[in-house]
Amino acid sequence: MTSMKKVNVDLGARSYEIRIGGGLLPRVGGWMKALGLAGRAVVVTDTTVRALFGGTLEQGLVGAGFTPTVLEVPPGEKQKTLTTAGRLYDRLAAAYAGRDTPVVALGGGVIGDLAGFVAATYMRGVPLVHVPTTLLAQVDSSIGGKTAVDRGRVKNIVGLFYQPRLVVADTDTLKTLPPVELSNGLAEAIKMAAIMDNDLFGFLERNMDQAVAGDAAALGHIVAGSAALKVSIVAQDEREGDVRAVLNFGHTIGHAVEAVSGYRLKHGQAVAVGMVGAARLSHRMGCLAAGEVLRLEGVIIKAGLPAVMPRGLDVGAVMRAMKHDKKVRQGRVSFVLLRSIGEAFVTDAVDPALVEEVLTGGE
Ligand SMILES: NC(=O)c1ccc[n+]([C@@H]2O[C@H](COP(=O)([O-])OP(=O)(O)OC[C@H]3O[C@@H](n4cnc5c(N)ncnc54)[C@H](O)[C@@H]3O)[C@@H](O)[C@H]2O)c1
Ligand SMILES: [Zn+2]
Repeated sequence: MTSMKKVNVDLGARSYEIRIGGGLLPRVGGWMKALGLAGRAVVVTDTTVRALFGGTLEQGLVGAGFTPTVLEVPPGEKQKTLTTAGRLYDRLAAAYAGRDTPVVALGGGVIGDLAGFVAATYMRGVPLVHVPTTLLAQVDSSIGGKTAVDRGRVKNIVGLFYQPRLVVADTDTLKTLPPVELSNGLAEAIKMAAIMDNDLFGFLERNMDQAVAGDAAALGHIVAGSAALKVSIVAQDEREGDVRAVLNFGHTIGHAVEAVSGYRLKHGQAVAVGMVGAARLSHRMGCLAAGEVLRLEGVIIKAGLPAVMPRGLDVGAVMRAMKHDKKVRQGRVSFVLLRSIGEAFVTDAVDPALVEEVLTGGE
């Protein structure tokens, strides 16, 4: 068992803790009890995650005096809909879930967003506990209070901010995660380090091979480091104002690449392409040294992520998709650029021709 790390999310009366380490799943129930929660508890999870970890979590809940009901949905983004949310409301009501019944989101970002949305809206909000089981969910989606469902092809279009009471990231759960999912989460960890923390970035450079191989100590350090970075941002800017905007590093190009690929590219892969693109832009605009671009590319490749646009993707389509991004204000596309590894800034003064050049493969 690795030692547990705690990260406090300071949001006044709605403050909560993120607990990170190995072997934490059985302790979730006891911690919920210590927060004053009791009685029924509803676990929302997907079939894959339930088979792996549902039993351990449930046992801990029972041991702490809860009466758990487990609601499972099939795995995958397709479940992040109002239809599935509607079914969950019905099943919560059928289980006699009341205002004080906690919802425990056990799974990846899909479950976190969906169960978070349901917890935020059922009876105008019930206590929410996140138990993220993918690297992406542990470093990114379980932190910050964003919940949402998709509508048609538009992702996260219906949602609200809703803070959990507790987040428990058991890094042992990452042992069963497929490599492609590990890489997907590593992209966001690399992002957090690249924009804010050269030391964590150095750790990633030195330990990426171990992380990719699933080494518990390396992954534990990465989760704790990047979670703390995300917390430092969201605690300053709970509702996505300007401070939080740096978290979009790699996402201006990334979202466009992801959409144009018809979502064949995973989010992390698209963001990896976007981060390298943004770093090259930073270099071309005279802000970032060439060696720093190479460091970023190196770490991305070691993480099993793509550094350039996959063949066959149309650069023109990516350029057009970028203009439709949520982050566009008054027709200007905003970019997060780097001054160095560990220091980022936001600008909308980027020449589209340069973006196109960088994406077409220009250094
Ligand atoms: N709320 C936010 O701030 C935020 C931020 C980033 C992403 N997101 C959302 O997160 C979602 C993506 O999350 P994700 O990448 O975790 O995908 P996911 O939840 O679909 O999980 C990926 C796959 O891994 C499986 N899985 C989960 N844990 C496992 C484990 N420990 N071992 C083996 N298999 C496991 C799942 O069953 C699923 O098939 C997207 O919907 C995205 O919009 C939200
Ligand atoms: Zn992202």
